[in-house]
Amino acid sequence: MISPEKLAAVREQFPVTKRQLYLDSAHQTPLSLSVREALLSFLNEGYEMAGPKPVWVRRAEETRANVARFFNASPSEIAFTKNTSEGLNIAANAVPLEAGDNVVLIEGDHPNNAYAWLNLKRKGVEVRFAPLKDNEVATAKTFEPFIDERTKVVTLSHVTFHAGQVHDLTSIGKLCKERGLYLVVDAMQSVGVIPLDVKALNISVLAAGTHKGLLVPQGLGVLYVADGLDQLQPAYVAMSSMLNPPADYIARPEDIAVRKDALRFEFGNVNLPDLHALDAAIRLIDSVGVPEIQQHVNELGDTLLAKLDELRVSVVGPRERGQRNHIYVLDLPVEMWADYFARNDVRVSPERGGIRVSLAMFNTAEDIERLASVIRAGQKENMQSVALQLD
Ligand SMILES: Cc1ncc(COP(=O)(O)O)c(C=O)c1O
Repeated sequence: MISPEKLAAVREQFPVTKRQLYLDSAHQTPLSLSVREALLSFLNEGYEMAGPKPVWVRRAEETRANVARFFNASPSEIAFTKNTSEGLNIAANAVPLEAGDNVVLIEGDHPNNAYAWLNLKRKGVEVRFAPLKDNEVATAKTFEPFIDERTKVVTLSHVTFHAGQVHDLTSIGKLCKERGLYLVVDAMQSVGVIPLDVKALNISVLAAGTHKGLLVPQGLGVLYVADGLDQLQPAYVAMSSMLNPPADYIARPEDIAVRKDALRFEFGNVNLPDLHALDAAIRLIDSVGVPEIQQHVNELGDTLLAKLDELRVSVVGPRERGQRNHIYVLDLPVEMWADYFARNDVRVSPERGGIRVSLAMFNTAEDIERLASVIRAGQKENMQSVALQLD
């Protein structure tokens, strides 16, 4: 549990909470004071010293080690990318796939994952979609009927952006291990909010951006590639990917061996400003703890579900703890409600199935109360306007 004092201190870190009811962290995190400070001091170093690059790079390596800790991985298994999509595309092009092989996804999964694999159709790779309802979570059973001897990869979002399902990576990871399949996970919506253990879950590759649960601006992604998957080879390389980078900066055709670790997938300069921000963000997350953040958002979720029941508003995703976490999509017509929430300074997202409310470490039970009273008032307002239209 997050103590009331700690929660108050965390909330202070997010000035946006004083200006609006922010329930949209699954879209984009608001920035914390400490992240802003980290970015400003990076900028000042750039102004004053034209960039102490070796210092920046050393700090980036410390951040790599901290990111690895988040996933129970080793730093050698982490590469920095620019976003989730880049990581997923790196995976799709690194796995040795031949014409006739197939990859299994969930129907309706985030398009950034789907397109990374659909793009392989031009190589003759088949992409299979397992159907799933919005209020169900995927387990090994979801994928099993679609797997045959030519299946090489199972890939899915850990938490879905459109209904908030938390898929059962435990059974899926076990299935992939038994069948010798690569498991590629899009952790964009779970990193920083749900503890992740890539080893226990048998994940081969995990990709995530950092602008939601990892609390920094867009433009930085993290990629986990399990040590030992040497058959995964990069489609793109630069000097930083090389096993023996030439000290004289002259590339020699006879030595183009790439590194053994995940850095073979990292090419060129990385997003140093955002990595400085990420260092501050990880400190903030660590000051609370990911398990505690998860418990906190789940408790707020319990309160939200109870309030929604009173208001007779249903959610499109699952209701059971363990199957949902911090994303709740309210079955309210977007065309009627999106503007209404915006007018009332409530920041939420329109989604396929309704209005998405997403919770973060800085949200409180009072936020849920306030949301409920805004919905109650909206129900009256909307009922009146529907009555007027019928008149
Ligand atoms: C599950 C999931 N994957 C990926 C993304 C975004 O992809 P990228 O980080 O490449 O912009 C989102 C949302 O922004 C998401 O919800």
